[in-house]
Amino acid sequence: MKVLVTGATGNTGRHVVRGLLERGEDVRVLVRDPAKAPGGDVVRGDITDPAEAAEGVDAVYFLWPFYSAEGIDKAVKPFKDKKIVYLSSVAAEDGGFWGEVEQAIIGVTDDWTFLRVTGLATNTLGWVEQAKTGTVRAPYGQAKRSLVHEKDVADMAIEAFTEDHAQQIYLVTGPEALSQAEQVKIIGDALGKPVRWEEQPLGEARAHLGEEFAASALPYWASLVDEPEPVSLDVAKVTGHPARPFDDWARERFS
Ligand SMILES: NC(=O)c1ccc[n+]([C@@H]2O[C@H](COP(=O)([O-])OP(=O)(O)OC[C@H]3O[C@@H](n4cnc5c(N)ncnc54)[C@H](OP(=O)(O)O)[C@@H]3O)[C@@H](O)[C@H]2O)c1
Repeated sequence: MKVLVTGATGNTGRHVVRGLLERGEDVRVLVRDPAKAPGGDVVRGDITDPAEAAEGVDAVYFLWPFYSAEGIDKAVKPFKDKKIVYLSSVAAEDGGFWGEVEQAIIGVTDDWTFLRVTGLATNTLGWVEQAKTGTVRAPYGQAKRSLVHEKDVADMAIEAFTEDHAQQIYLVTGPEALSQAEQVKIIGDALGKPVRWEEQPLGEARAHLGEEFAASALPYWASLVDEPEPVSLDVAKVTGHPARPFDDWARERFS
């Protein structure tokens, strides 16, 4: 099987490439900068126009790294009747652009698998410079998230390519929901220093995050104060190993 990996330079894609190569699969990567390619046979291109990269492949690890579904039909058309494993979001449950991307994929193939992630542990990398100063200032410290290790997402994708997971929607999460303040404390433990959370006023957070991202992220985080992100057993069911805890992720990164 020849698998095209999009987002191959990114958090999950690099592990998908490595895992597939380790299993002896034929891997092609679609990258904007070939110098950053993590391996496999390299096609320079853009995910909005992947026709050349899609030629001759049987399957694709598909990322849609935008906040709108505009242009999705052109991007999925070259994968007609191929296997598509899409890194989606739990937000697709409520439709939105995530749902539109999923529907576009369903429109071109019956062999799709959706990996609906709650949040990637790598999102917390944005706090690291602040953490080194001993304080992280950000909004909604009591929002509870079930952050997932990027290697677990990759393990799910590899299973989806190597076994039959057609038309399956998986909820891909870490093993527990931790408040953002708890996540920061764990990062501090891994860095070997106490780090405290300081609640950031929303106006300041909006300016810091940018209007477009803040408009979706802030209400979502607010909702997680009373209703934590779900914790799913799909990683364990599909991969045969439990989801990796956030403190393992933090220790791997910072210790
Ligand atoms: N972060 C989360 O918590 C979360 C939750 C749910 C779903 N997701 C989904 O997961 C995806 C990956 O998120 P991430 O934060 O881990 O990012 P990432 O995969 O680390 O980075 C984005 C990847 O997409 C590539 N890329 C960006 N624009 C591209 C374009 N126009 N054409 C081709 N490649 C392009 C980047 O390549 P370059 O090296 O060229 O920049 C990079 O490899 C998101 O797009 C989102 O759809 C994320």
